[in-house]
Amino acid sequence: MTKEPNHPKLDIRFETAADIIGIHKLTQQAFHGRPYAAGDEQEVVDRLRDRGALTISLVAFEEGQLAGQITFSPAEVTDASAPWFALGPVSVIPERQGDGIGASLIAAGIAEIVKHGALGCILTGNPTYYQRFGFEAAPDNAPTNEPAEYFMLKLLAGSKPSGRFAFHPAFYA
Ligand SMILES: CC(C)(COP(=O)(O)OP(=O)(O)OC[C@H]1O[C@@H](n2cnc3c(N)ncnc32)[C@H](O)[C@@H]1OP(=O)(O)O)[C@@H](O)C(=O)NCCC(=O)NCCS
Repeated sequence: MTKEPNHPKLDIRFETAADIIGIHKLTQQAFHGRPYAAGDEQEVVDRLRDRGALTISLVAFEEGQLAGQITFSPAEVTDASAPWFALGPVSVIPERQGDGIGASLIAAGIAEIVKHGALGCILTGNPTYYQRFGFEAAPDNAPTNEPAEYFMLKLLAGSKPSGRFAFHPAFYA
């Protein structure tokens, strides 16, 4: 079961230029001190945007305050099937974590990539969290430069590809 936000006034919409600085700060705050954080998650979002690979960026506002953001970018797989999308980073401000905002952003984002004809969605993340959204471990499809045990796939159309995925190069530099 995914949690629904306790706050009834959650407004989820596409990012605008006015949100960019806030998204950078939010992402930095959300990942700060996390043992699994690379420390450059906020730069990943900026690089994806700068390179035209920020396919979907949704922001969640509560009473005019930015409370969360989710990123989707194009992903490739060696069998050349398309389109696939990568989820992440996804961030919720520390004081509002655990209240369903992340779940709401993930549900809204998946609905958007379905509109883009997504065959499915990939991510590297904690299986305990993402399995509740229908993601399944897919170590055989993991990019060679990602930890296979944290690589997950959610099929939206078609069947599981046979090849290995690649995240957009903007994730790495
Ligand atoms: C991960 C994140 C986006 C989830 O959003 P959220 O609004 O806090 O999460 P929700 O309220 O929808 O779900 C809460 C549940 O997720 C769990 N959860 C949250 N982050 C988790 C993580 N990194 N790993 C495992 N479980 C996690 C909580 O323990 C809670 O579990 P429960 O329902 O069994 O009590 C948010 O916690 C966050 O910004 N974390 C820091 C940044 C991060 O790790 N981003 C994801 C990696 S790309």
